[in-house]
Amino acid sequence: MPHIINGKEISQQIKDELKAEVTRLAEKGRHACLAVVQVGNDPASSVYVNNKKKACAYIGIESKSYELAEETTEEELISLVEELNADDGVNGILVQLPLPAHIDEDRIIRTISPDKDVDGFHPVSVGRLWIGEKGFLSCTPAGIIQLLKRSGIAIEGKECVVIGRSNIVGKPMAALLLRENATVTVAHSRTKDLKEIARRADILIVAMGKKKFITREYVKAGAVVIDVGMHRDENNKLCGDVDYDDVAPVTSAVTPVPGGVGPMTIAMLMDNCVETMRIREEEA
Ligand code: GUN
Repeated sequence: MPHIINGKEISQQIKDELKAEVTRLAEKGRHACLAVVQVGNDPASSVYVNNKKKACAYIGIESKSYELAEETTEEELISLVEELNADDGVNGILVQLPLPAHIDEDRIIRTISPDKDVDGFHPVSVGRLWIGEKGFLSCTPAGIIQLLKRSGIAIEGKECVVIGRSNIVGKPMAALLLRENATVTVAHSRTKDLKEIARRADILIVAMGKKKFITREYVKAGAVVIDVGMHRDENNKLCGDVDYDDVAPVTSAVTPVPGGVGPMTIAMLMDNCVETMRIREEEA
């Protein structure tokens, strides 16, 4: 039987550790505040944003909400981000994506100060990650590293295959695995012989955005399989990029959907918020 990696439990453990750390810092008069910016009212984004604010409340971080109308101009959003950059009372800035089509997301991401970039999306954060400098880590890949470590799965020396090359998951995932001394292959939609390459993996990380695409022919017996996908199946049930029922029996450990990678993203966002407090503590 495979080990089913419990992301709900592990994310709760991380949030409890952070809550204790925030309490300790508060006793020394240190506080954190996350600015959460949403433009428009996409229902999925509203759910994510609310969950982020709830997590802040749970661990003892203040959150400030900025709910802007869909028609907000790029210049108006830039002005708000610049104001938040300059505000000493704000430690972290999160602009929920996707933004309305008339706003250039890359320009907004570049405007957020790298010192407040708790999503880890700024080119400076990305560069720091690749050259091994301290900095904010992209939350979903950082959460996957925690899932592996806290499940006792060694990464060093392992053959890891990442399927997907997005800036938010695939690329930072590859950088983090490399930093953990894994051998890393990044596969994607143009990869030839995907099955053959996926079957090399001791640890297979799937972030391709295709419902139940990965069946057991893609998986080496005894591999660890991490599923970043999130979709609705034909019965309106949540499912991932991995065909769980087919794949799970041949793995040594596997993440379910829901309850695997999903809850880790917010836990690691909270870790990045606490990191802003740790940095200020060091500088004090
Ligand atoms: N939209 C979907 N996921 C994310 C995320 O991790 N951060 C932000 N800012 N927007 C998102």
